[in-house]
Amino acid sequence: MLLDYSDSNTELGALYAAHLDTLFRRFDHALERVGASHAVIFSGSPRYAFLDDNHYPFRPNPHFVAWLPLVDLPLSYLVYTPGEKPVLVYCQPRDYWHVVPGEPSGYWSRFFDVRIVHDVTETGKHLPESRGKCVLVGEIDDPSLAFGIERVNPESLLNILHYARGVKTDYELACMRLATRRAVRGHRAAEQAFRAGSSEFDIHQAYCKATDLTDNELPYKNIIALNRNAATLHYTKLDREAPGVVRSFLIDAGASVHGYAADITRTYSFEDPHFADLIHRMDALQREIVKHVHAGADYRQLHLDTHRQLAEFLVDIELASGNSDTLIATGVTTAFFPHGLGHLLGVQVHDTGGHMENDTGTTIDPPSGHPYLRLTRRLEENMVLTVEPGLYVIDLLLRSLKGTDAEGHVNWPEVDRWRPFGGIRIEDNVRVLAKGSENLTRDAFREVA
Ligand code: GLY
Ligand code: MN
Ligand code: MN
Repeated sequence: MLLDYSDSNTELGALYAAHLDTLFRRFDHALERVGASHAVIFSGSPRYAFLDDNHYPFRPNPHFVAWLPLVDLPLSYLVYTPGEKPVLVYCQPRDYWHVVPGEPSGYWSRFFDVRIVHDVTETGKHLPESRGKCVLVGEIDDPSLAFGIERVNPESLLNILHYARGVKTDYELACMRLATRRAVRGHRAAEQAFRAGSSEFDIHQAYCKATDLTDNELPYKNIIALNRNAATLHYTKLDREAPGVVRSFLIDAGASVHGYAADITRTYSFEDPHFADLIHRMDALQREIVKHVHAGADYRQLHLDTHRQLAEFLVDIELASGNSDTLIATGVTTAFFPHGLGHLLGVQVHDTGGHMENDTGTTIDPPSGHPYLRLTRRLEENMVLTVEPGLYVIDLLLRSLKGTDAEGHVNWPEVDRWRPFGGIRIEDNVRVLAKGSENLTRDAFREVA
């Protein structure tokens, strides 16, 4: 299947105007709320390593990316004034050391009044003269880059934008479906490399090749974990040598298209049928949870329900004994599943706004004892979120159960048996529908067979 990631993709082009209309409405509302006339969005500056002239990989302002599929355009500004064509001050430095941004073109360009500058200091003349009526959104570490705008990142404006970003437009959904398919190509290649006995490093290379993304273009560092390494939740070390005995493979790896991310995890058994069965059951548990995603659902409850299902699962596979209430209350389920069920996804992998109750800044806390749950707001149609239950043998956490009421509920010889396999996580990206959901990830795995 041909995947068109380019900025001449006509499907995306057809959806983009409506996406901008949504942004116009959002910003009209936000500007009115803060009593400003113009929003100026700064794409971001390259950040240099201490005492060095090398910069870190550029990470653009997510608010800029929500407007424009320009993820590598530092020192540029978008100016939105209600009722007017937005202005894009497009910084194309005169630089013969580095590749500079090309001529502005793509499905987005006709919607902007593009002003090319060759030095960021020329930006000022393209900004509204009455700087007092502007609000600036972006990370300004050098005050001169604010060009005299004093209201930078006002919280009341950000609250509106962050809350709104939870719900995706058709354009954003299309980008995310593409990103998912792109990531799934990588996942298929990575599984093949794993089956061939490759090292983590080589599996990672196979992933990058299949997605046509460099390390720095990935939305987050790949988690490519063989055997016990799967128990480190954010394992990114990439061993150069394949292990002598290959048991298991956990891959949490994404891809981006026009700034929109996919975030997918799969776990595989090399040839142990018992571990394969565990994965199979975890997969069934994950799909069961996804069935409960729909508009109006309370994600906190889904997270708590997952702990209940996991308690039953732990008993089923003889890793624990006791009733579910006890396993939850004594912290057994949390020791095996110590992260949240999932999070919002979009231009950021952990997209902003997951704890917001409304657009005025009121938040909803995670349930007590579950501080890592990143999504607590009620689900709405066209939100995209992850569902990623896991089960790991993390000695640091399991040791802390010793000497507590939990100790007698854990089957320690079984813990020893599964330790070399590390853990299991299954993570899908799911779009909330009025009734039920669209599973972007499972759809893509079926398509990229
Ligand atoms: N890849 C990070 C996460 O799953 O949240
Ligand atoms: Mn995730
Ligand atoms: Mn992930």
